[in-house]
Parts: sequence; structure tokens; C-alpha cells
Amino acid sequence: MRTQAGSGVAWALLPAIVLFATLSAFSGAADAQRKERQGKEVVDAACSSCHATGKDKSPRIGDAKAWAGRASQGLTALTDHALKGIRNMPAHGGSAGVSDIEIERAIIYMVNRSGGQWVEPVGGATPAVLRTSETIVQAQCAKCHQTGLDGAPKIGDRPAWTPRLQKGLDPLVASAIHGHGPMPARGGLPDLSDQEIRGAIVYMFNYGLPVIPPPPPARPADPRHKVVSGTDIYLGMRPAEAMRAAQAQAEKAGAEKVDIPSGKGYYHLNISLADNKSQVPVTDAEVKVRVSDGVTTESKALGLVAANNTVSYGNYFRFSSGSSYNITTEIRRPGVAGTIQVKFEFKAP
Ligand code: HEC
Ligand code: HEC
Repeated sequence: MRTQAGSGVAWALLPAIVLFATLSAFSGAADAQRKERQGKEVVDAACSSCHATGKDKSPRIGDAKAWAGRASQGLTALTDHALKGIRNMPAHGGSAGVSDIEIERAIIYMVNRSGGQWVEPVGGATPAVLRTSETIVQAQCAKCHQTGLDGAPKIGDRPAWTPRLQKGLDPLVASAIHGHGPMPARGGLPDLSDQEIRGAIVYMFNYGLPVIPPPPPARPADPRHKVVSGTDIYLGMRPAEAMRAAQAQAEKAGAEKVDIPSGKGYYHLNISLADNKSQVPVTDAEVKVRVSDGVTTESKALGLVAANNTVSYGNYFRFSSGSSYNITTEIRRPGVAGTIQVKFEFKAP
């Protein structure tokens, strides 16, 4: 009799199943799980009133023949029927308080008392002691599966695990439960629950030991920040329209009038400086900028700009949309010999 739940899983679905299994193994709400009852408790409380005796022609617990045909539909179909009710079988076995997982466990319990060998599905069993898959694998399975002793598929060695998973996860869990060849039953730990074995297998398929943390993502260098001759140099570009709007606001509040060029394509090019060591803003520098699109070049000195409690250097330049520009900045700083020269690139949107 073939009663392995899910043994007909299509090969293509495997990665998704393994991933799902991993997620539910680690993300299940511990509280919700603890309140759920095991299969036997559920059956005793809610199912045995009919299924213990075969009342109303219900399949009797222990009657392998009565269950075999039904079990061949698979756990999903049976659960669906038990949840919705079928013929004389009331929905949820007539007990509204029985959760979906409890129904599944109850069915598995009854099937297994009736000649079946079903494995509790993921999200099902609640281990008496919560052990993570990693703990189990490191403490027990790694003894053989780390080095591949006696041909054990190695942890994290997907090519070794993949053919074994071809029939799905359930048959593999069953195989680990019963043991085969040099592989001891339950990996040599008789108190491991089916759920823990499943988690350990998923872990060995997905991960390697030791777990190497992925490198932190490289932070891309900010193309508008450079450090030259002990000076932090930041480039800012702000469209003149935005400056005009801000200025109009400021003038309403009583600020002095400032000339902002009208016309399209003007940007306020802003250079702010800080001493690299002390991070104190540099306010006594002379800053000149050359903007070139390769054909024409425009050079201007930048004036001191005070805004938002900082002091920087700025002026207006015109850029034509879609063109790329080299912005060469020349900075003279008291106490720093020579001219600090920095290049930025800017493509006008
Ligand atoms: C009031 C009596 C009654 C109770 C209580 C009851 N069942 Fe049933 N059950 C039935 C009967 C009758 C059938 C046979 C229905 C049929 O196939 O005609 C059945 C069939 C089933 C089947 C097989 C469905 C199929 O597709 O073949 C499952 C699974 C099942 N019950 C699960 C449960 C579970 C789990 C519980 C407890 C939560 C439960 N039942 C409680 C009467 C009951
Ligand atoms: C004493 C050594 C040993 C320990 C401990 C051990 N295994 Fe294995 N395991 C093996 C070997 C050897 C095989 C390969 C058996 C074969 O294919 O003939 C294997 C195979 C397996 C398979 C594949 C079975 C199949 O049908 O392809 C699974 C699943 C598995 N082990 C799970 C576990 C888990 C889970 C643990 C820890 C709880 C564990 N093993 C602990 C030696 C061990």
C-alpha cells in the first residue's frame, strides 16, 4: 500500500517545497503551535465517537481495509473532506474548535493506526523540546553527514541530496525514520520527532556547515563625495526652479532679494567642504569650478552660501538636458599647500 503523503510531488516543485518547509519550520508562531493538540488527543476528543466503532459507516480506526482506499487519495484530499464534511461525516468532525492542523494530525493518527505509515506534515508536530534543525544536525547528523562517512550525503551538497529527494521530501523523511544501510533509524537519536527529522533534512539540503555568513553588500562609493588632501568634497546640484521657489518663500519671510538666473537648464552647483580629520566645515576656502561638455567650457568662482546652518560654495551653471559634463573643482585652502583639484561627472536629466 502506498500511503506516503505527497510522494507524487512533481520534481519541478521540489525547490519550492523545500523552501516552504524551511520557512514554516522556523517561522511558525510558537504560541499557536503549543496550543494545538496532538493527533491522538484530537481523535479521542472529537473523532473516536464515530471512528472508534465505525458508526454511520465511518472508517473504523484499525480497519486497514476501510482506510486503504481513502488514504490513497492523499492527505490533502482527506483533510479537505474532513474539513468540509462528506456524506455522513460532519464538517470538522462536528467540532468547530478543531484547527486545520489538528484535523491533519488526527487523520494521520487514524491512518497510522490502520496500517498506514504517514509522516506528520511540516507545521504539524510540536516537538516536546524545541530544538532547532541546526542544533540537531550539528549534534547528531553531522557525525556522518559532515564528512560523508560511509557514503552519507554531505551537508549542503545539493548534487548528493537532489537524487534522493526526487520522490519528494516525505519518502526521505520516512527513510530517515526507519533507517537504511549504515544510516541508523532516526539518525541514531530515537527521541527525535518526525518533524525534527524533516527539519534536519531540509537543513542539510539547504545549508552547509559551518555556516558562512554572506559578505555584507558592498556600499557603492558616493560619486558626489571625494576625499583629497585631507578635505572632504561634496558636490550638490539643485535645479534653479527649486531655488527660485525656495527664495520666493524666504523673501516672503523677509529675506534679502537674491538674483537667480531665469531660463531653462540652470542648476545651482554647490560644493561643500569639511576637514577630513575633524569633520569641521571648511568656510575659508576659495573655490573655482570649470564645467565642460567637451566642446565648451564655462569657468566661475563659487560664492559662499549659507543655508540650513551650513556654509558651502555655489554658483549657477547652465546644462543642456541629456548631455554629460565634467565638473573640475579647484580648491585653495589656507594651510594646505597647492590647489586641490577634484573632478566630478554630471549628466543633466
Ligand atoms: C458524527 C460521526 C463522525 C465524527 C465525530 C467524525 N467523523 Fe469522520 N467520518 C464519518 C463518516 C460517517 C465517514 C464516512 C463518510 C463517507 O465516506 O461516506 C467519515 C469519514 C472520514 C474521513 C474520510 C473522508 C474521505 O474522503 O474518504 C476522514 C479523513 C475523517 N472522517 C476524519 C475525521 C476526523 C479527523 C474527525 C475528528 C476531528 C472525524 N472524522 C470525526 C463520521 C464522523
Ligand atoms: C552513523 C552515521 C549517520 C548518522 C549519525 C546519520 N546518518 Fe543519515 N545517512 C548515513 C549514511 C551512511 C547514509 C547513506 C545511506 C545509503 O544511501 O545507503 C545516510 C543517509 C541519510 C538520508 C538519505 C536516505 C535516503 O533514503 O536516501 C537521510 C534523509 C539522512 N541520512 C538523514 C539523517 C538525519 C536527519 C540524521 C540526524 C538526525 C542522520 N541522517 C544521521 C549515516 C548517518
